[in-house]
Amino acid sequence: MAATIVAVAACSPAQGPPDPEARTWIRNMWTGPAVLPQAEARPHPEGSLAVGAPRIMNRREARLGLTNPLEATAAVTAEGEALYATYCALCHGDAGTGDGDLASYYRRMPDLTAPHVLAYPDGFLYAIIREGGRNMPRLGDALSARERWALVHYLGTLAPPDAATEADSR
Ligand code: HEC
Repeated sequence: MAATIVAVAACSPAQGPPDPEARTWIRNMWTGPAVLPQAEARPHPEGSLAVGAPRIMNRREARLGLTNPLEATAAVTAEGEALYATYCALCHGDAGTGDGDLASYYRRMPDLTAPHVLAYPDGFLYAIIREGGRNMPRLGDALSARERWALVHYLGTLAPPDAATEADSR
């Protein structure tokens, strides 16, 4: 008997006004609770930016507008060095000279000890790490802002091999 009723209810054509009594076990678009657009305030997803919050600067703006909030202490530089070994050395090489394990797969692997790179403003290096380049991957998703700034301090300590030898021989 119960089976017969279920079968009849399930097979009744969707014509005419639906009978809510016969369909209480179906959560469909007729009987489900209607939630109108924007009727319920939902919390913002974590990490989202509110409209009107500061915009993320592009590379050119970051070059001039961002300064390193971290002090270049030995601990911060050491943190940057460890991050460099994990995230950058495979391409740019242990000493930054562009001879990492993956370098041969690229047409050009920049030497981070080149004078023009050492002269880059902190904000510019920060934005390069965050966004990557044509071939360099963006590391903004892998590294926190603090880690990126620590890396920037470490990059500042890289020196061309010649300079290091000169300093050592003095
Ligand atoms: C998968 C390889 C790869 C990794 C990993 C990588 N880079 Fe790069 N990087 C490149 C390439 C290739 C370029 C040249 C620009 C381009 O083609 O994107 C570059 C360019 C740069 C430049 C600009 C050099 C110039 O002459 O203007 C800097 C600075 C830099 N990388 C720093 C880093 C730092 C710091 C890390 C680690 C957080 C890192 N890169 C990780 C491949 C890599």
